[in-house]
Amino acid sequence: MKKAIITSALPYANGEIHLGHVASTYLPADITTRFLKLNGVEAYYFCASDDFGTPILIQAEKENKTPEEYVAVWNKRDNEDFSAFGIKFDFFYRTSSPENIAFVQDVFKKLQSNGHIYEKEIIQFYCTTDKKFLPDRYVLGRCPYCKSEDQYSDLCEKCGRVPEEIEDPKCSICKNPPTKEKTRHYFFKLTNFVNELNQWLESNSNLQKDVKKYVQNWIKEGLVDWDITRDMSWGVPIPLDDAKGQVFYGWFDNHLAYISTAVKFLNDKGIDGKSFWNSANIYHFIGKDIVYHHYLFLPAMRIGIGKEFKLPDYVPTRGHLMLQSKKISKSRNWYIGLRDFLKIYRADYLRFYLALITPYSQDDLNFDWDEFASRINSELIGNIGNFVNRALGFTQKSLSGIVPNTSEFDEIDLDAKNKISNFSSDLAFLIQDNSLDKALKKILEFSAHFNQYFQKKEPWKTGPGSNNCVFISVNAVRSLAISLHPFLPESSQQIWEQLGLTGNVSDQSWSSMSELAIKEGHKIGSVTPLFAKIEASDIEIHKAKLGK
Ligand code: MF3
Ligand code: ZN
Repeated sequence: MKKAIITSALPYANGEIHLGHVASTYLPADITTRFLKLNGVEAYYFCASDDFGTPILIQAEKENKTPEEYVAVWNKRDNEDFSAFGIKFDFFYRTSSPENIAFVQDVFKKLQSNGHIYEKEIIQFYCTTDKKFLPDRYVLGRCPYCKSEDQYSDLCEKCGRVPEEIEDPKCSICKNPPTKEKTRHYFFKLTNFVNELNQWLESNSNLQKDVKKYVQNWIKEGLVDWDITRDMSWGVPIPLDDAKGQVFYGWFDNHLAYISTAVKFLNDKGIDGKSFWNSANIYHFIGKDIVYHHYLFLPAMRIGIGKEFKLPDYVPTRGHLMLQSKKISKSRNWYIGLRDFLKIYRADYLRFYLALITPYSQDDLNFDWDEFASRINSELIGNIGNFVNRALGFTQKSLSGIVPNTSEFDEIDLDAKNKISNFSSDLAFLIQDNSLDKALKKILEFSAHFNQYFQKKEPWKTGPGSNNCVFISVNAVRSLAISLHPFLPESSQQIWEQLGLTGNVSDQSWSSMSELAIKEGHKIGSVTPLFAKIEASDIEIHKAKLGK
């Protein structure tokens, strides 16, 4: 497929992006998009701020802002932080956009005329102390499925299910038990889709097997219809005359912004958004906490409107990031904001470390300051930085920066040349399989091989064959630059410039990393060390700041 649309979970517009967000979703999606683009795929990476919901409204009121003003601040801030981290969206929009609101209302009407919506009088929790309805996060209680205490009424963090009715409820603001009030809500008949959901899960072989299995189990245990209405003002208005000022639940509208954002961007570019969507590979990158929404609600809603927009081909799902082996918590300051991190270390250090420790699985991962320092120092700097600097530094110093003429390759040269020839397809195989961590390890292996090659050939002794070594090594540096672009966009461009190559590494073709494209007589650029070591004493300071 020569077209792709990539999205990552939309960040709520009420708090800053932290390391936990980027590890599981934004970085893997960005790496994948950059890889696809190098491969000539017409790929677009879309995201948006998730603007609606009660917590956002309350916080806006506290800060004396309108909710529109409040979410605009976070939308801008998130976008800035992402781009400082090298996350390159083609378009970052918002769930509160006029296009999304119109699309959500249209989807609702289609679902309704297709018989997937019904009205029901329900009893809603109400807090007489706080004088408000208590949807979702505003009620804490025991999960009816797994019996975990202190779970929110809209999502059990222990078992990942959406409780039908939370047990032993309490208002999460004042902790008093809520009363119950009658209200009429709209329901989405999730139960209409059991067969088609099962069919999609079975037939889509790109989905991760373990995730698929527990989603299939949820279906087996029985789905419940989904209350999509909220008694509040901040949300997409229900497009009916008797809507009583109610709005849609945030999870009804937010994932539709994947589509409305893509269509808006593509239409503005003069491309038909809907037909592009339907002829592209669709990727939704998520963390494991929102599996239920992406493997049940999202596909069911798309099926419910007659698959006007196709279902996802990939829903890459990854685990949570722990910090120093403990759960990230903003209130306990066990937490590192992305912006603060980038004030201390460059984006590529964090991208390198996170990509290396994040597998393609539900397993949780761990940010460890000491491990961060040692992997940067020994692998990024000691391996990659060292090879690039050695090969280019030697060419600069001993050969005035001119790539020398070669003679007949010996066996070691041929083996090295072979490594370069196989590199692009070996790596592509891993990235297409979503094994981004393994792909980065493969790049490290490649670099280690060439460090050894250079060491073995001892070109500084200028014996026969040393020119071959320099020629091949400079070309290997070029292969590294292209292969590293998805992972380390900034550093790969620096390598490109030190090679004396013009243009952007992002404009190269992926497969060209397997060519010996740098010719005899080429003059390389000026060579400086790419990276600076991380000091152990600084790491101690960062560690001491946690939890204070
Ligand atoms: N804002 C949600 C969260 O942080 C994710 C929304 S992803 C979407 O959990 F699919 F719904 F858009
Ligand atoms: Zn549970």
